[in-house]
Amino acid sequence: MSARCPRSMKQMMRVVAVLAAELSGTALAQNVENGQRLSERWCAACHAIGPAAPRRAMAAPPFAAIAAKDGVTADMIVSFLNLPHATMPNVPLHGNDAQDIAAFILQAGK
Ligand code: HEC
Repeated sequence: MSARCPRSMKQMMRVVAVLAAELSGTALAQNVENGQRLSERWCAACHAIGPAAPRRAMAAPPFAAIAAKDGVTADMIVSFLNLPHATMPNVPLHGNDAQDIAAFILQAGK
C-alpha cells in the first residue's frame, strides 16, 4: 500500500503541471487583450494596429507589418519599447505591459 504512495504523488504532480500549463495559456490570452487595450490607447494614433485598420502616420509601420518582419521576436519588440525612441513618445508602461504589447503585435501578424 505505502509503496504506491510515491507513484500516486507523481501522478498528482503531473495533473498539477497540466493544470498550470492550461492556466498560463489563459493568462497569455489575457496578456494579448491587455496589449490590445494599451495599443489602442498609446499606439493607434500612429500605427495601424489591426489588420483592417487604415495606415496612419506615413512612417509608422502597421503592427501586422512589424509582426511579418523576418526574425522579429517578442524580446526585440520589448527592448524597442523600453528604449527611449526619437520618433515615438515615451509611453508609461508598467509590469508586463511591454510583453503584452509585443504579444499583441505578434498575433496581429497571424
Ligand atoms: C507619434 C507616433 C507614434 C506612436 C504614438 C507610436 N509609434 Fe511606434 N513608430 C513610429 C514611427 C514613425 C516608427 C518608425 C520609425 C522608427 O523606427 O524610428 C515606429 C516604429 C515602431 C516599431 C519598430 C518597427 C520596426 O520596423 O522595427 C515598433 C515595434 C513600434 N513602433 C511599436 C509601437 C508601440 C507598441 C507603440 C505604442 C505603445 C507605438 N509604437 C507608438 C511612430 C509612433
